Amino acid sequence: MKMRTHTCGQLRPSDSGAKVELCGWVDSVRDHGGLIFLDLRDRYGVTQCVFDPRDSQAAWDAAQACRGEFVVQIAGEVRPRPADMVNDRIATGGIEVRATGISVLNKAHTPPFPLDDRSAEHVSEDLRLEFRYLDLRRVAMQQALMLRHRLIQTARNYFDEQQFVEVETPILTKSTPEGARDYLVPSRVCPGMFFALPQAPQQYKQLLMMSGMDRYVQIARCFRDEDLRADRQPEFTQIDIEMSFVTAEDIIEIIDGLIVRLMKAAGHPVPELPLPRMTYREAMDRFGSDKPDLRFGMEIVDLANVFKGTQFKVFARALESGGAVKAINAKGLAHAPIKMVEEDWTGLAKEGGLGGLAYIRVQEDGTWKSPIVKFFTDEEKIGLETALDIEPGDLVLFGADKAEKVLPVLGRIRLLAGAQAGVIPQDVFKFTWVVDFPLMERNDEGRLVSVHHPFTAPKPEDVPLLDSDPEKVRAQAYDIVLNGTELGGGSIRIHDPAFQARMFQIQGLPESEIQSRFSHLIRALEYGTPPHGGLAIGADRLVMLLAGRHSIRDVIAFPKTQKAMDLMMNAPSTVDDKQLRDIHIRLAVAPKPESPQAGA
Ligand code: AMO
Ligand code: AMP
Repeated sequence: MKMRTHTCGQLRPSDSGAKVELCGWVDSVRDHGGLIFLDLRDRYGVTQCVFDPRDSQAAWDAAQACRGEFVVQIAGEVRPRPADMVNDRIATGGIEVRATGISVLNKAHTPPFPLDDRSAEHVSEDLRLEFRYLDLRRVAMQQALMLRHRLIQTARNYFDEQQFVEVETPILTKSTPEGARDYLVPSRVCPGMFFALPQAPQQYKQLLMMSGMDRYVQIARCFRDEDLRADRQPEFTQIDIEMSFVTAEDIIEIIDGLIVRLMKAAGHPVPELPLPRMTYREAMDRFGSDKPDLRFGMEIVDLANVFKGTQFKVFARALESGGAVKAINAKGLAHAPIKMVEEDWTGLAKEGGLGGLAYIRVQEDGTWKSPIVKFFTDEEKIGLETALDIEPGDLVLFGADKAEKVLPVLGRIRLLAGAQAGVIPQDVFKFTWVVDFPLMERNDEGRLVSVHHPFTAPKPEDVPLLDSDPEKVRAQAYDIVLNGTELGGGSIRIHDPAFQARMFQIQGLPESEIQSRFSHLIRALEYGTPPHGGLAIGADRLVMLLAGRHSIRDVIAFPKTQKAMDLMMNAPSTVDDKQLRDIHIRLAVAPKPESPQAGA
């Protein structure tokens, strides 16, 4: 290197006496009784540089004029720090550089917020996103990006070893049915026609199996115009694979192997293989969620047997109409704020379609405080105590209605109760596969739609139910879940063209739409298609969880806000009329002022 001999994280006591040159950003400058201590920072670390006017008055003067975030080059000599000055918290803490020269390569404005991780917690995320290049100077952000690199690299190497071929698929493509809205790109060459950005490379990777690629992998960018959350961005990255001549078992095994490698790369304990599996039914029944968080208990318990023939009307009505009575024991939460239980959690229950959320607080002396126990017989009380392992200090929460309504409600409340009780450990990693998802569900309009996507194959033994009881048909689909987050999902695909066409029909797609949207796929299926299947892992979620973060925005270099805007680049933005004319677009509305550019 011409400008520097070492990085700011490199020097050790064994380098003492060496003449060095370092480059970086001024992290801090402190004047200590005539000596100036300047901490110099780069991606690799921080090195303390000491300026003594007796070594060089010119260098001392220049150092004194430096401010935070100036970019400088420093020349000097490495010396061990006096024993009482050694800093064990940083890798270079055993040395300092006695500086003899400094040149300011660039000055810097005072940043709009402090760039240390602790202060940044109190800075609004919008401000951090507007000045993302500064935010990315923080150690925590640099670590997140480096972990991301390490994990992606690990995945690439792993799949390469396993004979996967990385193939790039188009970004300008056709609308795909992954369930979200498409981002559209108007065509200049074909007036009135649009490309869609891919929601996933799903059809291309299936077509690659028809091409005989056998094993495909791509670190693929995907685009979905959907409501954003902490674990959703409009553009995100998948570790996307597809394999030929496989069963679900083979794909699960390959991903199990990947998880071990990723956990090692992240420096986390390696899980035992095979990773645990449960069916969708079991996940719903025990955890009220298809992405169960296995880091804590508080499982859902079915109380149909306990309350058979009960006098308590709410429960009796539910059971008599074919519904369910279920509960969780929120251990230790007997004294949870009443407002939380009666307003927040009961509100959730009502949003989920339940009439309310019955509860019992178990006092320290073992007595039950509850508006409903007066309706219970002694036998019911004993049954309840056994079924839920009730002890002093517990809070039991009941849901009664159709099981499809009760389970998700108790599932959501279970997570809140676990957090409230502080029983969800933050530093453990509980993976599980969830298998045997339903193939289809009814949407709000009552139409059958794919739970995963319409290329997913049913379990062969369930095919006879397709006409008689389509919602009962299970799919050859699987999700991998980590700590209550869906990390990835996939399926075995339909490889029979007639069956694929039948699936589109069952989902009520008119023949014209099948032709216009999927004729290419059905035609390709007719030219010799191997049985195949695959899966995609959300890379952003993977990095988020392994980095111990709570938002994927923290592990994406340049993310969008909740409103799908890039505050740094000011995108989306207006474009000039000429550009619009070129692509044959005339605006029917004036740009909305909430977009940052429109008002400017
Ligand atoms: P699916 O739609 O389940 O499957 O997506 C796979 C994984 O991608 C991640 N993911 C997201 N991450 C961030 N922001 C988003 N908006 C977002 N949406 C999805 C999740 C999810 O588990 N083609 C199929 C895969 C297959 O069948 O092989 C697919 O895309 O972690
Ligand atoms: P009610 O008979 O409506 O006054 O309800 C009696 C108790 O049962 C109250 O604590 C309600 O919150 C609760 N409750 C009502 N409906 C349900 C339900 N579907 N599931 C669970 N608890 C309920």
